[in-house]
Amino acid sequence: MEMEKWAAGRRMALILVLLCCVFGGDAYDVLDPTGNITISWDFQEIKVLVSLHNYQLYRHVEDPGWRLSWFWAGDEVIYDTTGAEATEQGNCSLFVGAHSCEKHPVMVDLARGVPYARQVDHCCRGGVLSSLTQNSEAATSAFLMHVGNFKSSSDGIPQKPFNFSHGVPGYRCSNATMVAPTRTRIGKHRHVQA
Ligand SMILES: *[C@@H]1O[C@H](CO)[C@@H](O)[C@H](O)[C@H]1NC(C)=O
Ligand SMILES: *[C@@H]1O[C@H](CO)[C@@H](O)[C@H](O)[C@H]1NC(C)=O
Ligand SMILES: *[C@@H]1O[C@H](CO)[C@@H](O)[C@H](O)[C@H]1NC(C)=O
Ligand SMILES: *[C@@H]1O[C@H](CO)[C@@H](O)[C@H](O)[C@H]1NC(C)=O
Repeated sequence: MEMEKWAAGRRMALILVLLCCVFGGDAYDVLDPTGNITISWDFQEIKVLVSLHNYQLYRHVEDPGWRLSWFWAGDEVIYDTTGAEATEQGNCSLFVGAHSCEKHPVMVDLARGVPYARQVDHCCRGGVLSSLTQNSEAATSAFLMHVGNFKSSSDGIPQKPFNFSHGVPGYRCSNATMVAPTRTRIGKHRHVQA
């Protein structure tokens, strides 16, 4: 697999970030004109930690919660996930047993109280995000996926997935951009270097 070869060659140092901004209508809030929801993909070896950060001061993401979707650049496969699941497995005849082989995966958060082995920090609240002022800890949601069969560009970097949506009405998301790797805090005590 391309991604595994690449991982063996060097440390993954790639974070994709995209912003989903309110574009008016019902979701616009005069008290919070620049609030946004930022989604980051932090490639750690062949695991990708996907985080949604609600940087809006007052607006929550309510039940039924976010539904994060995108298009893969190639025939990428999600072998397994922790903290979320794809709504469809799709056609995994070439990757038997894989979690999802959809070209356009839709990921949903797991419900509260799932077994510990299926959880990661900041997961499993049914896709609900608090606003920043209400509860900054619960304003973040995260899941981990093990992705393979990455389509790489000529420089060996995986091609970016595109056309993201977090499924909450009233927002428009930018395409992802790459940012410098940073030391990320996951949960209360753990920092990882991407
Ligand atoms: C999104 O929110 C973060 C945190 O408040 C802020 O730093 C960033 O500038 C915002 N981005 C946009 C496009 O409003
Ligand atoms: C599933 O994918 C395989 C391999 O690409 C293909 O041969 C097969 O026709 C597909 N099955 C369906 C039901 O689309
Ligand atoms: C991605 O979004 C662009 C711009 O909205 C659209 O033209 C294109 O058809 C979308 N691609 C797919 C595969 O849906
Ligand atoms: C995002 O990237 C995709 C694929 O590169 C492209 O088709 C689409 O037009 C882009 N959308 C925007 C809003 O730039």
